[in-house]
Amino acid sequence: MSASALHELEGLIGAGQVLRGDACARYETDERGLFHGRALAVLRPGSVAEVAALVRCCVSHGIGIVPHGGNTGYCGGATADASGTQAVVSLERLNRVLTVDADAHTMSVQAGVTLAAAQQAASEHGRLLPLAMGSQGSCQIGGNLSTNAGGLAVLKYGTMRDLTLGLEVVLPDGRVLDRLSSLRKDNTGYDLKQLFIGAEGSLGIITAAVLKLFPAAPRNCAWVSITAADAALPLLAALRELSGDAVTSFEYMSDAALALVVETTPEQRLPLSAAHHVLVEMLGKDDEDVLERALSTAAERGLLQDVVVAQSENQRRQLWRLRESIPPAEKRLGGSVKHDVSVPLAEVAAYIERARMAVLARWPRVRLSVYGHVGDGNVHFNVLAPLDEGAEDFKRRHGDAVSDVLHSLAHAMRGSFSAEHGVGVLKRGLLERYGDPVALAVMRQLKATLDPLNLMNPGKLLLPEGPAR
Ligand code: MLT
Ligand code: ZN
Repeated sequence: MSASALHELEGLIGAGQVLRGDACARYETDERGLFHGRALAVLRPGSVAEVAALVRCCVSHGIGIVPHGGNTGYCGGATADASGTQAVVSLERLNRVLTVDADAHTMSVQAGVTLAAAQQAASEHGRLLPLAMGSQGSCQIGGNLSTNAGGLAVLKYGTMRDLTLGLEVVLPDGRVLDRLSSLRKDNTGYDLKQLFIGAEGSLGIITAAVLKLFPAAPRNCAWVSITAADAALPLLAALRELSGDAVTSFEYMSDAALALVVETTPEQRLPLSAAHHVLVEMLGKDDEDVLERALSTAAERGLLQDVVVAQSENQRRQLWRLRESIPPAEKRLGGSVKHDVSVPLAEVAAYIERARMAVLARWPRVRLSVYGHVGDGNVHFNVLAPLDEGAEDFKRRHGDAVSDVLHSLAHAMRGSFSAEHGVGVLKRGLLERYGDPVALAVMRQLKATLDPLNLMNPGKLLLPEGPAR
């Protein structure tokens, strides 16, 4: 069956675009090296018509389809299973920026455009695409949409759900849902695009989108020390108020997380020494220092300890580099048991403290790397092996138990076990455990309606059957 299917697929998208064997290797392992799949083939369509045709062909042969973007996800959502029967569909050749309309503040892009290329195209027109994250050089818009990416400026601009006006999707039966609209107002029933954003490719393949843009504005950035994690929220509230709501990013970092950066990249220096740090960025104007004024008023009110304001673009980049070096520092030290929880804003500091106490009570010698987008209630509470214990060994022996503690605490505080990195394969069991049963049932109904043969990214997001873990 698969030989004739592959022959048919070659006819549809070109023989050179149906990869087999070793040529598939780079599509078969996820970014973190947690998932190793084996693909029947990697398909590289060059147009939406080709995506639709290959979907129809795969469905007629009962071949599972795994949409694949920049392969930067953390949960295995874009990796084939080990059966060798699923086709990976890479969107990398759909890499054109279609239009940028500066006056309307919109752009339309194909799904395989990297985030950095989309940002660049917007900036060439004097506009800002505000989605930004460490992986922006490789991650693709289709993946950003499929995981409802948030990144570093959610506080001001929201996630991909908020940034998307229109979407084009190839459905599991090969029909093309053309909702590639730039309308900002359209009250004509269900907002179907939202169904596919964050669906992790389980309901169809996103092929293009219309995104919102904003006026490009200078960014001003400062490094702030605070006395305790619970000082972060009052500081953020004051800065938002004092700046006319110009805060775009507000990133919390514990001294222990930053210590990992200094340990692994000693050429980097911390601007301040303190137990708790915040990187704050604001929109500014060249002739007006909103950031400095807001910070000095906050300091007068006793809301912060100390401040270093970036005096140049180079300094601004250095401050961001410190923040963005935390995940790679963990990786260099053998990796961590990673978490990506969110809790209501008012509970962030309490979560950090309760989590710290609970983890250290059971594993007193671990190293903690706590940081995150606290302006969004999103905390990365990562746990590293004790210094005298191998990282892999620790993760294997204690990883699940550590995660149980941190996820159940987030759940008890009315939070989420996955604030930004999605579910994929890694967190399907958690979705079963913590998801609302009615919401889960509706998700299964939608999946069964749109993808009755369960061929669209099978086994991702929803466990194939029942509540087994
Ligand atoms: C981040 O906040 O840096 C990203 O979510 C990546 C990570 O935590 O590893
Ligand atoms: Zn994050």
